Amino acid sequence: MAKRTIIALPGDGIGKTVLDEAIRVLDAAGFEADYIEADIGWEFWRNEGEPLPERTIKLIEEHKIGLFGAITSKPKDDAAAELIPALQNKGLIYSSPIVGLRQHFNLDICARPCKTYKGNPLNFIRRSQDGGTDEPQVDVVIFRQNTEGLYGGVEWSSPPDQVYDALMTHPKFIKNFGDVPKEEISVSTRIFTKKATERILRAAFEHARKYGYKSVTVCEKPNVIRETSGMMFKMAKEIQKADYADIQLWNTNIDAQMMWLTKNPENYGVIVAGNMFGDIVSDAFAGLIGGLGFACSAQFSADGIGVFEPTHGSAPKYADFDVSIVNPIAMVESACMMLDFINENEKAARIRKAVAEVIAEGKVKTYDMMKMTGRPDVVEKGAASTQEMTDAIIAKLDR
Ligand code: NAI
Ligand code: MG
Repeated sequence: MAKRTIIALPGDGIGKTVLDEAIRVLDAAGFEADYIEADIGWEFWRNEGEPLPERTIKLIEEHKIGLFGAITSKPKDDAAAELIPALQNKGLIYSSPIVGLRQHFNLDICARPCKTYKGNPLNFIRRSQDGGTDEPQVDVVIFRQNTEGLYGGVEWSSPPDQVYDALMTHPKFIKNFGDVPKEEISVSTRIFTKKATERILRAAFEHARKYGYKSVTVCEKPNVIRETSGMMFKMAKEIQKADYADIQLWNTNIDAQMMWLTKNPENYGVIVAGNMFGDIVSDAFAGLIGGLGFACSAQFSADGIGVFEPTHGSAPKYADFDVSIVNPIAMVESACMMLDFINENEKAARIRKAVAEVIAEGKVKTYDMMKMTGRPDVVEKGAASTQEMTDAIIAKLDR
């Protein structure tokens, strides 16, 4: 098979560290690729006023696959203050390059698997009926609509007249807000389109079928948010009936789902939701399987672009330690999702098995797995460094 070209997007802080480690694991698993490192993140914002340079976009456009570490983001004003002097006061406005990537390439499907590793000391434990403890085996994949909804960016404080006038045509607006001065109103819209809703629903059902999950749960709030959540659930019923009768369709409200989270997380399979609720429910399930050191993700567009990244950020607190202490597993698992995407399933399976074995054996644990506070001395106290965890995974890879 022709050698793959992967666009490596290290970004900032620990993003760089964990990406290097993931590539070491990919190499050790025999995955042959050319990695082209592309510029993204804080350094490029400060020096060029653009955290997502055009040259990076071009590279992803050409090669289609991005393996991304993490970036540092800061609020608008703080970001502007850190620009080099030559770029100060030029009206440059910071916006997150990862959000920029999602929008530019319309990476509208986000998949976030949360699966319990046997022996992970961070696994969620629950009181069982006999007064002992249960460790439910979570195996959930959250499909989050990644471009619309509450994160669509269509919002105003003190809305312009046309917007205000349009709102004033709605009886509920008149009744509940009609006498509030315009200047005292902020509005964030929640827009769902049929096209994107259908894509995320079908992606969820396809995944359930391909990997043998028995149910797809729409996790929204259709009884209250009737138009957007309501549309998603209605479309889910139609799609299930027409094309996925072999898969059960469940419906939970986001608030109730948060309660069910600790009661019966093992009952869920594929979960599908809009942007905000998908973000919430995926962080919640990630907490049951070990948190940020384990939470991986993939984002896809309709035209075959995939960007794979851990859900954690750049953790600046830990970025400059002489010996890195962060857990590389979320990044390694994200790399496995990339391998699945390009049909290198056998290599992905071998890496996942190696990770599972290291965790089950329990000899090599990063500081988070030992419930330590992240400090440089955790390694002296018995925690594995980032490199040692990677080495342990590589040592378990069958060849
Ligand atoms: P963060 O995810 O970077 O770190 C939060 C805490 O989680 C860390 O202090 C650490 O205790 C733990 N943690 C994170 N990754 C870990 C790992 N691999 N192993 C062990 N522990 C880990 O989030 P924070 O501190 O809120 O944000 C830091 C920067 O990252 C900010 O500038 C933020 O905007 C950015 N960020 C970027 C994201 C991305 O690139 N997709 C996502 C989230 C935050
Ligand atoms: Mg999040």
